Amino acid sequence: MKFFLDTANVADIKYWSDMGLVDGVTTNPSLIAKEGRPFKEVVREICAIVDGPVSVEATSLEIEGILQEARDLSAWADNIVIKIPFIKEGVKALPILKDEGISTNSTLTFSANQALIAMKAGTDYVSPFIGRLDDIAHYGMDVVADIMAMKNNYGFATRVIVASVRHPLHIIEAARIGADISTIPAQVLEKMFMHPLTDKGLESFLKDWRSVEV
Ligand code: G3P
Repeated sequence: MKFFLDTANVADIKYWSDMGLVDGVTTNPSLIAKEGRPFKEVVREICAIVDGPVSVEATSLEIEGILQEARDLSAWADNIVIKIPFIKEGVKALPILKDEGISTNSTLTFSANQALIAMKAGTDYVSPFIGRLDDIAHYGMDVVADIMAMKNNYGFATRVIVASVRHPLHIIEAARIGADISTIPAQVLEKMFMHPLTDKGLESFLKDWRSVEV
């Protein structure tokens, strides 16, 4: 399973990229706004750090605006993927952008039916939002399992990004299902490293080692 970082924070992206763990990045308007920096500057810096795909979201709600934004944004760097909200105008844009060679990520998807439509429309990536479904007492990961089954049944080339990840268990469940990608907030990736038995074991090994004559 590929790891994307779900952030627009350049320092976090650099830190985890240096560890070799970042296969791509996803941003959204909220994550960009959180940085308090000019949009283009942030995106360009991220694209220079990361070799893999960097998702940047279009905010227009009608086809012409979405297409124009996608064309403009994709010219900023070679590895830009245009995130398009799952609305009818957005779905209309997917095959057009595919024909133009512009990569797309169908975002704000919350059901397997939405993902099926996006896959049929030729999206390169689809992003089911797991945590936000869990938040309203729906099993987000069930939607991922359904989408992966549909993808495999019909051989769609779309890659499924498990998004809105809240904790390390989401990553285990996504990997168990065989999702293509999880997009992970930095604080969740940090937690994936932690185990008290690792800390305790290391402490005891180092203590014992101090009594050894080398
Ligand atoms: O980038 C999209 C998604 O991962 C947002 O997550 O935590 O705002 O639900 P969240």
